Amino acid sequence: MNIQIPRGTQDILPGESEIWQFIETKAQEVCRRYNFREIRTPIFEHTELFTRTVGDTTDIVQKEMYTFKDRGDRNLTLRPEGTASVARAYVQHKIHGWATQPNKLYYYGPMFRYERPQSGRMRQFVQFGVEAMGSADPAIDAEVLALVMDIYKEVGITNTKLVLNSLGDKESREAHRQALIDHFKPSIHEFCSDCQMRLEKNPLRILDCKKDRDNPLMKTAPSILDYLNEESRQYFEQVKAHLDQIGLPYVIDPTLVRGLDYYYHTAFEVMAEGEGFGAITTLCGGGRYDGLVEEVGGPSTPGIGFAFSIERLIMALKAENLVKEAEPSIDCYLVALGDEAKNKSVELLYQLRQAGISADKDYLDKKMKGQFKTADRLNARFTAVLGENELADNSIVIKNMQTGEQVSQPLTDFIQYIKKEIEGGQVR
Ligand code: HAM
Repeated sequence: MNIQIPRGTQDILPGESEIWQFIETKAQEVCRRYNFREIRTPIFEHTELFTRTVGDTTDIVQKEMYTFKDRGDRNLTLRPEGTASVARAYVQHKIHGWATQPNKLYYYGPMFRYERPQSGRMRQFVQFGVEAMGSADPAIDAEVLALVMDIYKEVGITNTKLVLNSLGDKESREAHRQALIDHFKPSIHEFCSDCQMRLEKNPLRILDCKKDRDNPLMKTAPSILDYLNEESRQYFEQVKAHLDQIGLPYVIDPTLVRGLDYYYHTAFEVMAEGEGFGAITTLCGGGRYDGLVEEVGGPSTPGIGFAFSIERLIMALKAENLVKEAEPSIDCYLVALGDEAKNKSVELLYQLRQAGISADKDYLDKKMKGQFKTADRLNARFTAVLGENELADNSIVIKNMQTGEQVSQPLTDFIQYIKKEIEGGQVR
């Protein structure tokens, strides 16, 4: 039987994996510049971690989690996002007690959501995310926003828009919650069964409903910005002032509510503006989650972060025509002719690699022509030919594949010669 890949997942083959490596490296470099350090957490966690933090009325928890019982009857879930795990690790390892505060962390890895697959929406996707924990300074909100926009800039994406909102503090959200209930209650029968259930439990989630998004009551729903108390309003003003100060452009969208329950104050998304996108244009989402660490049993700790998927970032790169398939390339291809030379090439190949040179040889018993063809296909910068004559006088013939120039070198100088040529030439 021909076994296919599961729906909503993908294989990333050589040619495309180089783009992934490029993005990972750029994102890590930017994180280093901003003094964020990497944290790695498990791919599965106790289910309760997500129900308590992401929120039991969210789509993620209600419909999208890959939850299973292990052989010890534990209830586990493949992580649908990274923030909850970082908060758990933060408490478990008492990171709040570390001498350097706030703690600025980043992570990178696969996440799992049982969604209906479409372009930009996968069941397994890879998120790059950051979490800055331990500071309620609006300047750190601006820093986190600057960081994500820097990552997009570094990889070359220009058509993006930073969309900002405030969800206020507990008090503001409570006032807004009541206003939402009053707004939707008289016509709640027009909404889907999920929204009817959400009305009393968590009316903010109605604004995030994919089924009822075209109902006219959505557009006239009370705006959170009208319900911010003085403290929340001031916080939002300071975040905006810092963004203005560093010249980072943004637009305010009071309907931006995010799909997870843990947010307070700043909430944001980065949207793709270019053409070539389908329905999904959100590249990145994040915000402030000041109650989250307490929710997982830690001390009251403010925090803010974001996550974006590499899949959507690559969509944006493709929309801007910035992706081309990477070609293979190596420094040196060894062409060996005859049994003795083949045997010797095992040793030479090892020495080349020990000297830091990327190198390869034939393993399919090909003739000279075939070996040169492979060297061409691998875009080798040099080929080194070892035949019976060369073996007899302890030499090797080296061909520069760009210029066609050919020289004979004593075998004892071979590795040094290639090393010098490579280092003196263009750096790959
Ligand atoms: P989120 O909005 O659920 O937030 O996801 C963040 C990003 O993950 C999205 O903007 C998108 O780039 C990507 N993403 C989500 N679902 C999929 C999918 N099915 N396929 C491909 N990409 C997807 C969070 O996950 C929060 N933990 C972000 C955060 C960090 N907030 C604070 N800190």
